[in-house]
Amino acid sequence: MAPAVAVIGAQWGDEAKGKIVHFLSREADFCVRFNGGPNAGHTVVDGYGEARLHQIPAGALHPQCLGVLAHGMVLDPWALQEEFSALKAQGRPEPKIFISERIHLILPYHRLREEKEGMADKLGTTRKGVGPAYMDRVGRRGLRLLDLGNEEYLREKVYSEGQYLGKIEPETIIADLLHFRREFENRVGDAQVLLAQALSAGKRVVFEGAQGTMLDVDFGTYPYVTSSTTTVHGIPVGAGVWPEFSAVIGVAKAYATRVGAGPFPTEDHTGLGEKLREAGREYGATTGRPRRCGWLDLVALRYAQKVNGFTHLALTKLDVLSGFSEIRVAVAYRVRGRRVEEFPAAPWELAQAEPVYEVLPGWKRGIQGVRDFEDLPREAKEYVRFVEEALSVPVALIGTGREAEALIVSWEPWS
Ligand code: IMP
Repeated sequence: MAPAVAVIGAQWGDEAKGKIVHFLSREADFCVRFNGGPNAGHTVVDGYGEARLHQIPAGALHPQCLGVLAHGMVLDPWALQEEFSALKAQGRPEPKIFISERIHLILPYHRLREEKEGMADKLGTTRKGVGPAYMDRVGRRGLRLLDLGNEEYLREKVYSEGQYLGKIEPETIIADLLHFRREFENRVGDAQVLLAQALSAGKRVVFEGAQGTMLDVDFGTYPYVTSSTTTVHGIPVGAGVWPEFSAVIGVAKAYATRVGAGPFPTEDHTGLGEKLREAGREYGATTGRPRRCGWLDLVALRYAQKVNGFTHLALTKLDVLSGFSEIRVAVAYRVRGRRVEEFPAAPWELAQAEPVYEVLPGWKRGIQGVRDFEDLPREAKEYVRFVEEALSVPVALIGTGREAEALIVSWEPWS
């Protein structure tokens, strides 16, 4: 079996996937982003400080790991260059990356279109132009990275956005894109072939999902979703390979958050949500927006488990729950008086879903930085066991703080 590991958000994004991917990539050869673009914000806190990665795969912070930006992503070349500069300013070695020539580009008019079509207001999108770039891809009018090799075609594309030309300077865009092409020439090519060869040579590959299952364009809470396949199914589509995974890791926070509009049954409005937000620093890594906060939702998690077939769970930010006298977990919903165990697909049912909570005892002692399961308070251990049993999936990793090292590992990833 090729040693391929998938890391997939099990909730509404922001599950601290960056930290998990960074950990798994310590001994990996490749780290692959296959969906999304600069809407993602993957945070890693290490000896250099806090890195906020948007398009560069988190594993590429390790010098031996090649970050691959596969064709399933949409790429903002300007934002990518800024990301490199930000990492350089922290004194980090330059991450090694390889970009699929088939990747679709986000151009300045995509962001303008996102505003004009009211996506940001209606859905709470991240204003990065991601949705409109994906729309152009399926509309068969997108601009791919390889198209920069055909200047005539590039000009035609940029000038065809007539309605936005008053707001953007086409010649500057064209010059910037040609500059980008020259700068990144040696890092662009057929990523599908590269990955297929790597997998058949037995290289270690980590697939880094962006956003989460509940934001998947098909499996999420449509229409309040992102525009890509965020689940494990996005890997064959977005990277062009179909590995036999040695692990599919679902990453879930020990509670729940959502940023942007859309149903969120366990959202807390009693003040405890606010407490979670402050304790967990729940503000968007990409937009700075305060995240909506609430309790762990096992109905949604069971659904994510079914959709993705997780073999392991990573339960992150467990330390944030310290100090709560009791902890709630939604085990079912009540919809119009009826108990519902399955996650409803229809938005109008979901909008009426009231969580049925089980209440577990909390713990007082801070657990920041704990690295051994046995050092957790009894109640924290019981909480982890409760989640494990409810999902019938082992919790392989537990996050206990912001730093990369604040992790309980009870599994050998590459054995
Ligand atoms: P878009 O991806 O910018 O089109 O936004 C669509 C929805 O996905 C909005 O509710 C965003 O807040 C949400 N979203 C997009 N990317 C992320 C992410 O990385 N974390 C959490 N939410 C996200």
